[in-house]
Amino acid sequence: MRHLLSAADLGRAETIQILDLAEEMAQVQARPVKKLPALRGRTVVNLFFEDSTRTRSSFELAGKWLSADVINISAKGSSVSKGESLRDTVLTVAAMGVDALVIRHHASGAPAQVRRWFEEGGIDAHVLNAGDGTHEHPTQALLDAFTLRRHFRVAEPDRNSFEGRVVVIAGDVTHSRVARSNVLLLRTLGAEVVLVAPPTLMPSGVETWPVATSNDLDEVLPEADAVMMLRVQRERMSGGYFPTPREYTHRYGLTRERLTRLKPGAAICHPGPMNRGLEISADAADAANSLILDQVAAGVAVRMSVLYELLGGGDN
Ligand code: CP
Repeated sequence: MRHLLSAADLGRAETIQILDLAEEMAQVQARPVKKLPALRGRTVVNLFFEDSTRTRSSFELAGKWLSADVINISAKGSSVSKGESLRDTVLTVAAMGVDALVIRHHASGAPAQVRRWFEEGGIDAHVLNAGDGTHEHPTQALLDAFTLRRHFRVAEPDRNSFEGRVVVIAGDVTHSRVARSNVLLLRTLGAEVVLVAPPTLMPSGVETWPVATSNDLDEVLPEADAVMMLRVQRERMSGGYFPTPREYTHRYGLTRERLTRLKPGAAICHPGPMNRGLEISADAADAANSLILDQVAAGVAVRMSVLYELLGGGDN
């Protein structure tokens, strides 16, 4: 793997290798001294054109715990705010001699365009997609798979973790890069995926995706081994996608009442940030079977694993 732009870049064996290595990285995360020398002398730049709490800080920790030099650049406070173009910005950063560029951008396809500019310019840096518009968020899908694999293994150690498991992904699917990457990766791992959304928030062309779909959350919840609630992305909505927030919660929120429809032990996930009281209730977010903080913790271990795989830590 040279770049990580899409969950589709990962085959089953490669995904499992990243998840297995992340288990080892998680052991480092649990130590008092969280440091490995694997990426000493390598430089990672986190270039964020959109806000982030989890992804940016976990990529930063992942790089630092592997002893890479890590620089964070956000659009606010950089020359982007003076009108510098994306192309000029990334070529400027690359000219300093970076080994990996982690990029979050509001435009779908921006990381792929950066990879093309690097290839045209003979620039030997790896590109990692940290979320591009409504397109993809592949490391989020990896950390979700890591978290779910652990959960399924504890419940049934002798069973293949994903084969035959039903993962319900519910909410604002149209605007969700998390949903797109998760569909690809969960299918690669053998899980069945059911997407649930109001008709207005189900993407056009979804019938060609390898998933089942429903507009009725109550109907599908009893089948779920895991339910992944998606954030309602009001900042990407230009029109009225649902009558009122109250109506949305009534039909599509994981409310206290809906928790009773889940199988015992079914996992509750959310990529964050959450709109508590809209797509997920406090009872669900803080339930015993909620894995939301496990997902956050997994973000560091998984991103350590990905950086290690991409930057050739294995050669050290
Ligand atoms: N899940 C996720 O991408 O969160 P951030 O926007 O905080 O990075």
